[in-house]
Amino acid sequence: TLLPLLAAVIGYLIGSLSFAVIVSRAMGLSDPRSYGSGNPGATNVLRSGNKVAAVLTLVFDALKGYLPVLAVNLWGARYGLGEGAAALVGLGAFLGHLWPVFFKFEGGKGVATAAGVIFGLNPLLGVATLATWGAVAWVSRYSSLAAIVAAALAPMYQLLIWEAGATALALIIMGLLLVWRHQANIQKLMAGTESKLGQKAAGAA
Ligand code: G3P
Repeated sequence: TLLPLLAAVIGYLIGSLSFAVIVSRAMGLSDPRSYGSGNPGATNVLRSGNKVAAVLTLVFDALKGYLPVLAVNLWGARYGLGEGAAALVGLGAFLGHLWPVFFKFEGGKGVATAAGVIFGLNPLLGVATLATWGAVAWVSRYSSLAAIVAAALAPMYQLLIWEAGATALALIIMGLLLVWRHQANIQKLMAGTESKLGQKAAGAA
């Protein structure tokens, strides 16, 4: 049956809603692709100085990963959709965020959306991964470093504490893509020029 693939496409379309751009537009703020890192994500929207816009971006980008997975968990069984389909749908949403069909395929780095997907696939892993992000962000004040560490550890937690399966495979794929999308951040971290959480960007309003 093609149903899991169809579900993944729906996940992809939902993931393609780039909320950094949508929220900024709705609130009359600059396009986040025009300042700071240029990334359409909550961290960069925060550099506008508008915390409400940043939180809304974070929440909506996470929900667009969480809700499609939750829908499969709640109603998938009656259509024969299980863990594999849930993982595929979550991956679809994540890929939509990175390459959004509605925004010329120029998307973000996937941190918030991956977090939402993880909470949908395995809520306790979501808590562990979020705690990891929080701990690294708290100590280092680098959003990007926290995301890279959390993305690297999430698949390991899943494999060590839970099991190898579709969820683990989706976590590995998301983790690899997420780290790859952070190349510029990694270079800045090594050069000591990465901006810390809460630092504002010039040219944003
Ligand atoms: O949300 C992505 C974050 O890890 C890095 O964002 O804007 O600093 O490249 P940014």
